[in-house]
Amino acid sequence: MSEHILASAIGKVQDALASKPPRTQGAGTARGAPPPLGAGLTEGDIVALLEAGPGEQRTLFALADEVRRGFMGDAVHLRGIIEFSSYCVRNCLYCGLRRDNRRLVRYRMSIDEILAVAARATAAGYRTIVLQSGDDLHYRAEDIARMVEGIKQAADVAVTLSVGERSRQEYAIMRRAGADRFLLKHETADPGLYSRLHPGMTLEDRLECLAHLRGLGFQVGSGNIVGLPGQTARTLAKDIMLLRSLDVEMAGIGPFIPHPDTPLASHPPGDLSMSLRTLAVARLVLPLAHLPATTALATLHPDGRRMGLECGANVVMPNVTPLEFRRLYEIYPGSIALAAPDDGGLAQIHALLSGLGRQVSHTCGHSPKPAWAAGHSAASVGRRGLPPETARGGGRGGHEGGCKWQIG
Ligand code: 5AD
Repeated sequence: MSEHILASAIGKVQDALASKPPRTQGAGTARGAPPPLGAGLTEGDIVALLEAGPGEQRTLFALADEVRRGFMGDAVHLRGIIEFSSYCVRNCLYCGLRRDNRRLVRYRMSIDEILAVAARATAAGYRTIVLQSGDDLHYRAEDIARMVEGIKQAADVAVTLSVGERSRQEYAIMRRAGADRFLLKHETADPGLYSRLHPGMTLEDRLECLAHLRGLGFQVGSGNIVGLPGQTARTLAKDIMLLRSLDVEMAGIGPFIPHPDTPLASHPPGDLSMSLRTLAVARLVLPLAHLPATTALATLHPDGRRMGLECGANVVMPNVTPLEFRRLYEIYPGSIALAAPDDGGLAQIHALLSGLGRQVSHTCGHSPKPAWAAGHSAASVGRRGLPPETARGGGRGGHEGGCKWQIG
């Protein structure tokens, strides 16, 4: 039965690709044509794909790679992450930064330190800076706004924030300062599991934050962990369905890695193949989303980054935090980021990409969705129906124009 569903799910993707080449995707569906890629897969299809055996898995990965290439191109976007504070008010059961982990030595970087690190990263060529921290309320929204303004005044780059749950007003201050994107992973779409893993928090609140971010005009990123206790293929299918209904511009999907100083210390790590299948299915369902080959994937397996890039990923997020702080930002142990030089390991990434016949993008790598694509000017936002920039550019990936995308 599930073999039949799997064959039909693969057939749906193949039909969508054959009848609707990437160039015309998004420009409306002709009557009688199969539904556009992404929309046609049911929850049952997704479960079957996630449970694919080794043979079909190869087909799944090849399809995801084809979809990535057709919709996002061969260019890989690098996002330089600055982990500026390891303080956190949350107590997530899986995370080494959790409030109750008293073994962790905590740090905060000053705004000047953050700007100096960002300047080094942009000088090294990064076109997106990600400011990430625990949920640290020490920094007011105005402080984060100053970081964003400082970075954007100094260089033509995009800024992504990943600073956790805040009020709509606080998000608005960050957005007005020029922040382009916001990452807030939903972690798991199962409300019961969410509450068990995040004491005092609810999935509903998380989704409300995501709705605020959407309403404020951020490019929105979410995502989930693979291999949490109590998770099944059905739960993961719900994660992907949620990402689709949120219509995310980015999704981070990576395996769970146990941290010894957390309640999940003895829970096994996420499965590599399941992590890759989840990424691959996400690519089929979200053809225009930026999907990173996550650091967690690269930490789980020495070839994880390459594998991710061959299963649908088009983004790498190197860590540019000064090493003295980086080693203290211990979400999970043994991160590959610890072995990378100050610049996040650009030489190694260039070598990896050239081995794959891919290149580093020189653009800010905004979302290629029609609403964000055409030069990011206020006038261009809302010109729906335009084919994505990447498709018009013959699959080069990313936008070769400026990065002056502002609030529309
Ligand atoms: N294993 C894998 N990913 C983790 N995260 C936090 N703890 C872990 C862990 N033990 C992820 C969460 C969070 C991001 C910053 O790191 O998805 O959103």
